Amino acid sequence: MYSHNLMKNIIRHFNIIYILFLFIFLFPAIYLFPQERHNNCIECHSKFEEEETSPTIEFKNDIHNTSGMLCSDCHGGDPEINAGGNQELAMNPKKGYKPPPGHNEIPEFCARCHSDFEYMKKFNPNIRVDQYENYLTSQHGKLLAKGDDKVANCVSCHKTHGIRKKTNPASAVFANKIPETCSKCHSDPEYMKEYKILTNQLEMYKKSVHGEFLLEKGDLNAPACNDCHGNHGAAPPGVESVHNVCGVCHSGNNQLFLKSSHKKYFDEFGFPECASCHEHHLIKKLTEESLGVGDQSVCGICHTQEDEGGIIAVEMKNIIENFSALRDTCQILSEEVERKGMPVNEIKYQMNNVDSELLKARNIVHSFSLENIKQITEEGTKLAISVKKMANDELKEYQIRRIGLAVSLFFIFLAGTALYLKIKKIDKKNIINSF
Ligand code: HEC
Ligand code: HEC
Ligand code: HEC
Ligand code: HEC
Ligand code: HEC
Ligand code: HEC
Ligand code: HEC
Ligand code: HEC
Ligand code: HEC
Repeated sequence: MYSHNLMKNIIRHFNIIYILFLFIFLFPAIYLFPQERHNNCIECHSKFEEEETSPTIEFKNDIHNTSGMLCSDCHGGDPEINAGGNQELAMNPKKGYKPPPGHNEIPEFCARCHSDFEYMKKFNPNIRVDQYENYLTSQHGKLLAKGDDKVANCVSCHKTHGIRKKTNPASAVFANKIPETCSKCHSDPEYMKEYKILTNQLEMYKKSVHGEFLLEKGDLNAPACNDCHGNHGAAPPGVESVHNVCGVCHSGNNQLFLKSSHKKYFDEFGFPECASCHEHHLIKKLTEESLGVGDQSVCGICHTQEDEGGIIAVEMKNIIENFSALRDTCQILSEEVERKGMPVNEIKYQMNNVDSELLKARNIVHSFSLENIKQITEEGTKLAISVKKMANDELKEYQIRRIGLAVSLFFIFLAGTALYLKIKKIDKKNIINSF
């Protein structure tokens, strides 16, 4: 009876219980699992934007999208009103909608967020917010401020709606994409014709050691355009600061150059430091051929056979040439020892030391001091001579073993022949006996 009444009561109050249930369980669920923010901008735009490069399609993998931002975070307007429906209501100036910024307004447009650390740190506490500030100091930023609409702004390098994190290999500013990104403009003579600067940077860069390492071998340690020009402060380094640019990675050469007397002379004459001998975009491997004062020499650009620099340059060339030739002899001997199957481990180990002495010698060239180079190559030469002796000893040992082998083979042959004759003799005896 009691339970029958209870059932009745439950049925009677079902509506109230149902609503209570909704409140208790579903309401918090809305907060725990918020619905995706509504975006009528994309709903409507994707109906007529079909090209690969149109905003809604490119935006799919854009960092601003994947970090949860909407079209309206940049363009303003109301993305939630009237799903998919009315253009005027969505792109409503009263809701902050503004037509897209023009070329000269873009840096400020992006800087609204990117220079605001309070805002940016919510997404990434380590993010830099100095891009705009640096950009203003660049040749691009300076000319843009004067109304130039051809220099790079943020979207020339980052794209507009397909922006990726710099660490994403698909980003237009990922290390191995940068040379192409910069050269869209810089290698287009038509585009650059009103400016009085060269347009061969990419062509030269591709032929350089750096281009070869980055673009062909995929070595991300090799510099792209931005490593020498800065990401946002793009300007050619002044002639007196080229050493800083190169010194970031080649600190040994840099330290030697700074201490050398050349630093003072180069500043006096306005020579562009490292680039005077290595060029700046067409950087090649140099060897002892570049010393001395001959045709291939870089010292010969400024020195003659008669002046002090020239005389020393020729001596340096001879010293490194001799050392390098001795090293090559050691290498050939070492390979021969290996081919003959003689023990070669110690020789190879010492060859590595000779090679590193030769590297040191090529490096110490940057002190432009005969004393320094003599000291390094003297040690290296001693080492190379000892390697040469070790290799020659092994080859001698091989000869001795070969002679030893030949002699023992000779005796084995003799013994064999004697045995053969003996057996034949016994056989003959046996045949005669059998008759
Ligand atoms: C019902 C469709 C519709 C909706 C919703 C809509 N748009 Fe548009 N939008 C258009 C059309 C059509 C154009 C191109 C023609 C034009 O310029 O009026 C356009 C153009 C634009 C442009 C370029 C304008 C220019 O001057 O070049 C921007 C930026 C833009 N929309 C942003 C947005 C944003 C942000 C939202 C959401 C807040 C949004 N749109 C919502 C239809 C829509
Ligand atoms: C990070 C900021 C940012 C976001 C987010 C963004 N835009 Fe843009 N949008 C721009 C800028 C800057 C321009 C001007 C580009 C130029 O002049 O090169 C632009 C231009 C446009 C244009 C006109 C030029 C063109 O490329 O056709 C349309 C249309 C447009 N945006 C639509 C959208 C839509 C739709 C979304 C969302 C899917 C969106 N934008 C998201 C920054 C943004
Ligand atoms: C001349 C090309 C160029 C221009 C113009 C440019 N950037 Fe960059 N940006 C780069 C390069 C290159 C990188 C970094 C790549 C790296 O370090 O691997 C970068 C990196 C960034 C990063 C990642 C964080 C950081 O600083 O390393 C942000 C954010 C950024 N840029 C925003 C902007 C904004 C905003 C503007 C306009 C004020 C702008 N960029 C203009 C080339 C450019
Ligand atoms: C509404 C604010 C806002 C605007 C406007 C904006 N961004 Fe961003 N952007 C962000 C935020 C936030 C991130 C960081 C996302 C993250 O790290 O998760 C970001 C990330 C980036 C990155 C990737 C940084 C990295 O770590 O490599 C680049 C590049 C970038 N934005 C360029 C631009 C450019 C160019 C513009 C102008 C066309 C622009 N942004 C406009 C908020 C904005
Ligand atoms: C949208 C086209 C464009 C892009 C992309 C671009 N630049 Fe430029 N850049 C220019 C123009 C135009 C100038 C002005 C030339 C002048 O200084 O007379 C310039 C100037 C420079 C200068 C100063 C040259 C001088 O001697 O005055 C340097 C350095 C430079 N850019 C480096 C870069 C690097 C590095 C990148 C890529 C990370 C890059 N640029 C991307 C158009 C571009
Ligand atoms: C290894 C460092 C390095 C790299 C990599 C590099 N540059 Fe340069 N760049 C320099 C130096 C140094 C100068 C200035 C030389 C001088 O003042 O004599 C310069 C000058 C320039 C100039 C001024 C005009 C000229 O050619 O003298 C432009 C533009 C330029 N570089 C663009 C680029 C672009 C684009 C790339 C990538 C394809 C690039 N640079 C790669 C070091 C570098
Ligand atoms: C971002 C780092 C970086 C910067 C900046 C840089 N280089 Fe390099 N450089 C490399 C790497 C990596 C290699 C290739 C590997 C190697 O030989 O060590 C290389 C190779 C070289 C070589 C050939 C070395 C050899 O073995 O014969 C020369 C010469 C050279 N760089 C000169 C310069 C000059 C001059 C500058 C400045 C205008 C410069 N580099 C700026 C990283 C850099
Ligand atoms: C006066 C001419 C001259 C100047 C200035 C100069 N170099 Fe060199 N550099 C050479 C010569 C010559 C060689 C080759 C030496 C050899 O192989 O015997 C060389 C070799 C190199 C090498 C390869 C050997 C090694 O040390 O790893 C690098 C890297 C290098 N230079 C970087 C630089 C940097 C960075 C600067 C500026 C700080 C610079 N050079 C300034 C002439 C110069
Ligand atoms: C860009 C021009 C330039 C190049 C290239 C150059 N030098 Fe010099 N060098 C000078 C100048 C200027 C002086 C100052 C004395 C003079 O006028 O002869 C000098 C002086 C010297 C001196 C004398 C040092 C002193 O204290 O009086 C030596 C040694 C020297 N150079 C070696 C070399 C060697 C080796 C090379 C090649 C690797 C080389 N130089 C390449 C410009 C250059």
